[in-house]
Amino acid sequence: MLSFLKVFILLLVLPLVLSKPVVNNVLSYGAIGDGLKDDTSSLLKAWEATCKSSSSSATMYFPPNRMFLTHPLLLKGPCKADVVRVEINGTITAPSEPKNWKCGSDNCDTWLHFSHIDGLEISGSGTISGRGQKWWDIKRGKDKPAALRITNSKNIGLSGLRFKDNPKMHIVLNGVQTAYLSYLKIEAPSHSPNTDGIHIGDSTDVHIQHCNIGTGDDCISIGGGSKKLRINDIICGPGHGISVGSLGKHGDYDEVDDVEIVGAVFTGTTNGARIKTWQGGKGYARNIRFEHILCQNCDNPIIIDQFYCDHEKCEDHDSAVKVSNVKFVNVMGTSKRETAVKIECSKTVPCEDIVLDTIHLRSSQEKKKATSYSSNARGEVRGEVVPKIVLN
Ligand SMILES: *[C@@H]1O[C@H](CO)[C@@H](O)[C@H](O)[C@H]1NC(C)=O
Repeated sequence: MLSFLKVFILLLVLPLVLSKPVVNNVLSYGAIGDGLKDDTSSLLKAWEATCKSSSSSATMYFPPNRMFLTHPLLLKGPCKADVVRVEINGTITAPSEPKNWKCGSDNCDTWLHFSHIDGLEISGSGTISGRGQKWWDIKRGKDKPAALRITNSKNIGLSGLRFKDNPKMHIVLNGVQTAYLSYLKIEAPSHSPNTDGIHIGDSTDVHIQHCNIGTGDDCISIGGGSKKLRINDIICGPGHGISVGSLGKHGDYDEVDDVEIVGAVFTGTTNGARIKTWQGGKGYARNIRFEHILCQNCDNPIIIDQFYCDHEKCEDHDSAVKVSNVKFVNVMGTSKRETAVKIECSKTVPCEDIVLDTIHLRSSQEKKKATSYSSNARGEVRGEVVPKIVLN
């Protein structure tokens, strides 16, 4: 009877013990957090412990009021817990001199790299500050690191954090399935090159909400292989707006399908809602909806550009990434350039099912009128659309 009771109690208590949340404070693994000492190896140890923990919820914790200096880190799964948490309430920073970064040929493209994890929740009130100023001065030739990259993973949450002055893109998702990004603040000056806020590629079912992004490149860029994206309530500026593309570079085959961007305010950005593809590319960008967009003094509030080219001379090609079923609904505000709406498609692969529904864009320049331009774009105009545009 007694042993039966013991077994009974054990059975009752065991799951509680096993699922007791584990919090691994990085300080307990030797991290100092004074902004000077290299904490890389201590952070790796804290990650290993967290990832291997058999608790159903394990947390790697960065306490506040500390600055953890780290070189490129690969935080790799698979992990044991159902959900691994990384709670960052302090600051994570990098060497400010690019030449002091300790990385090799295979890991210099990423600073904080999470890979092969199913169930990852990154949150906190802390900052990811890559001190990228010196990187921005380097022109070409050197691979610059993305700040936070998540690859080949699923069921991801990323919220609350602030990203500041990172060397290149701030957040990159590659090969991610099901991710929720919210309440992020991303900031870098308008002159910082290629500092996209969030870049998504080869990922499905990605939700981005309530983010405030101002950088020197796209606030959000959507690359090939992106499907089922839901983007809501974004404040963007400075920056290049929210872009699908560029797609089809070097003749690549790219697919982007089922993207909804609903609720975005662009202030002083070069673009608002943009789709850009290279000549000579293949594949498609389709089923894309931009809705409830406010542009305040954007250079190009609405733009589809099938002739995208980032250097001076681009050759003409017959093939192009097909652009179809793209809706711009309820787009208001002001345009800095005269051409507020530009739908420029190729003759051989025209854009199809383009819908402009309730557009009101005027020039932000005194006494100037906003105009529109379209070529090889088929579709329809609904509601009141100003400036007037003809699709055929
Ligand atoms: C981290 O900061 C958040 C927000 O300030 C707070 O809610 C949370 O409790 C902190 N985490 C820990 C483990 O103290």
